[in-house]
Amino acid sequence: MLKEIYEQPKAIRETIGSLIPETGAISIPGLENFSKEFLKSINKINIVACGTAMFAGLSARVMFEQICEIPTEVEIASEFRYKNPIINENTLCFFITQSGETADTIAALKIAKKKGAKTIAIANVVGSSITREADYTVYTHAGPEIAVASTKAYTCQITLFSIICMYFAQQIGKNLNIVDILKKDLLELPIKVEETLKLSQKVKKFANNIYKEKDVFFLGRGIDYASCQEASLKLKEISYIHSEAYAAGELKHGPISLIENGITVVSILTVPHLVEKMVSNIQEVVSRGAKTLIITNQDLADKNYDNIIKIPKISEFLSPVISIIPLQLFAYYISKEKGLDVDKPRNLAKSVTVE
Ligand code: M6R
Repeated sequence: MLKEIYEQPKAIRETIGSLIPETGAISIPGLENFSKEFLKSINKINIVACGTAMFAGLSARVMFEQICEIPTEVEIASEFRYKNPIINENTLCFFITQSGETADTIAALKIAKKKGAKTIAIANVVGSSITREADYTVYTHAGPEIAVASTKAYTCQITLFSIICMYFAQQIGKNLNIVDILKKDLLELPIKVEETLKLSQKVKKFANNIYKEKDVFFLGRGIDYASCQEASLKLKEISYIHSEAYAAGELKHGPISLIENGITVVSILTVPHLVEKMVSNIQEVVSRGAKTLIITNQDLADKNYDNIIKIPKISEFLSPVISIIPLQLFAYYISKEKGLDVDKPRNLAKSVTVE
């Protein structure tokens, strides 16, 4: 897992490949047949996947909605396949899967196809089963991912979605100013991931302080809430610590009753217009005695927090790729400190090919 965490700059660079030209329009091999007319006729995007791949879909939803202005739903494949989804020939369905062999995701794709929706597989393994079923396939280039806990496949999936999203926005003429910024930021992404990996010792120190805890909570808003859900899965999967991710605005609607002296709360803050709200949520848990770790690219200099991991600044749409890095390391160091088998956590298989 550690090796794969450190392979992320290279994996992201390879996923970007030559898709982003210095000048001219983006084009994506596999999607050349998507006409402007079809893209303009899309009534909804559905993103369907399991586990970490589904959490990558949550970040992709924010991009499709904010940049392309297309309504987007994210569904767990095992739910989608049994719910008679409301989709038709004007729905575009993405199926994200590292292995390309996940039974629920493949079954969900077959249902979408039967209902006439256009299906695109986002896969990492060339020639995997899902690529033989989908109308179109676009590959991440993460290289083989062996550890059960997915790391580089996840960051490559979000990277690829940002490119697909820019491509769609260019085709339909939406928010081209955002596309220009995103394009520039994307080219700096691998270097910023490299810089973030250098923060590992600070993460390790915090992890070694709290590795005996029974519960850890993650708080975020907007796209950071998506990252919190992935961070929480990573932690529970390999450290066996119970963890939950909450949209921070939900605290007052229940979860705050769980916050007591000494509890660990990890917050992610990268969305500029939500910083103030997040700061007040963090205050609420700190005043109840929580130990906090804050992952941010915002300036919180005037706040007196003990543990802040300052990550590089980037467009909010790409921030999930950066903010998850310290939290992958966090899960890794806790698992190591507990003497667990990081790469092969109990009860889990790398790909779930049966229901
Ligand atoms: O191969 P897939 O991307 O379809 O796998 C989906 C999930 O099984 C997978 O992401 C799982 O949640 C990972 N163990 C998470 O680290």
